[in-house]
Amino acid sequence: MKIQHFFDSDTFTLTYIVSDESTKDSVIIDPVLDFDPPSGRVRDQSIQEVLKYISDNHLKVRAILETHAHADHLSSSQILKQIFPEAILGIGEKIKVVQEVFRGHFNLPNLKTDGSQFDRLFKDFEEVDFGSLKMRALPTPGHTPACMSYQFGGNVFVGDALFMPDYGTGRCDFPKGSAKDLYKSVSEILYSLPDTTKVFVGHDYSPGGREMKYQTTIGESKSSNIQLKIETSEREYVDFRTTKDKTLKAPRLLLPSIQVNIAAGHLPDLEENGKSYLKLPLSIELKSGKL
Ligand SMILES: [Fe+2]
Repeated sequence: MKIQHFFDSDTFTLTYIVSDESTKDSVIIDPVLDFDPPSGRVRDQSIQEVLKYISDNHLKVRAILETHAHADHLSSSQILKQIFPEAILGIGEKIKVVQEVFRGHFNLPNLKTDGSQFDRLFKDFEEVDFGSLKMRALPTPGHTPACMSYQFGGNVFVGDALFMPDYGTGRCDFPKGSAKDLYKSVSEILYSLPDTTKVFVGHDYSPGGREMKYQTTIGESKSSNIQLKIETSEREYVDFRTTKDKTLKAPRLLLPSIQVNIAAGHLPDLEENGKSYLKLPLSIELKSGKL
């Protein structure tokens, strides 16, 4: 099994391709679509390198997997679906909960909340073969209620559940996020994997200006994750996470990302003038006067 990473420096996101070198079967995990909010420009620069790698290595793309509905980058899964129509676009089945929450928040009455925008909704611990690649979907909610980690043999792709040991874990303050759930996901699900299991993270922010890193192990995380070690208690973690999350700003691409990603990477339908528009719900907090 071969694993190739691709780093998007604009959103600090890691996209991965897992492939079987003998059969050429492959899956893409968390592909990025480039979006520039001030101009509204949508581009597909980030996946050009991914596409080149697929073509250079003659890979057969069997699946496109989302670890969760990302809040910091848009997904390019629909572009990839057009190029690889046979590939299965999959996400955790609790995406329905996330769709329900945000249908209300963005007032999107036409948004289906049954997950049908995706080809496949994975159940907890479901095992699925993508050609010769065997995947196990590990439920790791907390950052969002629908977060899944994808295990391929001795490798696990954890999305935003765990980061590199010097950065910690994902924030848990999005709607239906839960520090308690993330504690359970990490301490009971991920930390029960063998220590040698390779962990591939969904983001790296190069704390302290160090070089970008994307891979650790379960053993390293258990002994040195600065937020959640094996000996960290639930109370310690939940207190820490809840306090820390209160200090964090909303991700730069939060509102555009969520609207696109809960619809499996589809942009909003074109309006009569042939353009697509995203919504910007206002949160009005005035000390005086009224608008
Ligand atoms: Fe995320």
